[in-house]
Amino acid sequence: MCYHCPSGNLGLLLFLQVQMVRLVGMMLLVFARKDQLSNIREVVTETVGTGIIGKMGNKGGVAVRFVFHNTTFCIVNSHLAAHVEDFERRNQDYKDICARMSFVTPDGTLPQHNIMKHDVVIWLGDLNYRLCIPDANEVKSLISKNELQKLLMYDQLNIQRIHKKAFADFTEGEIKFIPTYKYDSKTDRWDSSGKCRVPAWCDRILWRGGNINQLHYRSHMDLKTSDHKPVSALFHIGVKVVDEQRYRKVFEDIVRMMDRMENDFLPSLELSRREFQFENVKFRQLQKQKFQITNNGQVPCHFSFIPKLSDKQYCKPWLRAEPCGGYLEPSEFCCCSSMLVQVAIPSLVSPSLLSWVSPFPPSSLFVCSVLWPLSLLCMSLSL
Ligand SMILES: *[C@@H]1O[C@H](CO)[C@@H](O)[C@H](O)[C@H]1NC(C)=O
Repeated sequence: MCYHCPSGNLGLLLFLQVQMVRLVGMMLLVFARKDQLSNIREVVTETVGTGIIGKMGNKGGVAVRFVFHNTTFCIVNSHLAAHVEDFERRNQDYKDICARMSFVTPDGTLPQHNIMKHDVVIWLGDLNYRLCIPDANEVKSLISKNELQKLLMYDQLNIQRIHKKAFADFTEGEIKFIPTYKYDSKTDRWDSSGKCRVPAWCDRILWRGGNINQLHYRSHMDLKTSDHKPVSALFHIGVKVVDEQRYRKVFEDIVRMMDRMENDFLPSLELSRREFQFENVKFRQLQKQKFQITNNGQVPCHFSFIPKLSDKQYCKPWLRAEPCGGYLEPSEFCCCSSMLVQVAIPSLVSPSLLSWVSPFPPSSLFVCSVLWPLSLLCMSLSL
């Protein structure tokens, strides 16, 4: 994590440690400018060992994740499997770290996050990928002629990335520095031990996410404490800063819009009539009247006549609708008939539903008005 020091010279703004995480020989330190500390939240660390028996911490990764303003960051430092021929184990280590690195806040208030869930991922470390040129002298000669582009075509990491075997969706800046491995300790001399290792770009920095600009990517030849040369990168990263007032307003607008949509997509039906007058009703004589059910909503709809809560049937036993159920597309309608099938003996007919116009004659001729019990069941198909 690198920040510019705007005033340059002596105006060294104070950087403070945000977090530190280590696993055996791997360590990751995150510092932030003091005046930015209050914008950093939800700092969580995690380690994954992929070394001996696939678990030990001699190889693996350490990571720090945090939120800066409203952008989530994850910084990973990893030390992947060694040896020239073991690039597939390095790929596997990378995959294991991605799969097993899982960040949980101590109070468990946030959902678990993996590395790739972050807006910005910066992955650095001794990734240990080598050159697939077996002859150290050939490599050294190309380096001395500064033919780095040619050498980089033999870089295992580049090849694995092209074949999407590891770091597939990461970006790496152009490498303009000579291989950072392996030197005799405390010198700039290539490894002169019996193993005479082929120089390689073991130490790399890659990133993933939008709004990221790399300003520098370089090695530091003057640092001689290790058999590697350290590499550094400077990024210019755009972060999201949410305007809380506008965020709330947009949020409310969206909720309102969703409400409206939900209403618009509510199933809705219309009955052409709700009241039926049957005249000259005679005992055991069928009468029919037509009415129409229209789907006046915006979604397909199943309908059926159902009893009201307190009732056993959707209407009196001597009355029925036909059909009493169906399916309608929006603005489709169907014609139904309500039928007075049979009039039972008057004493069984609920007096509340019948209005008598004449005294009940022996022939059981009467007029009744029936209010359709409007208990249509609407069921939406979609949504
Ligand atoms: C944005 O970040 C601020 C603090 O940095 C936080 O209070 C706010 O909840 C965040 N907003 C969103 C939408 O994440």
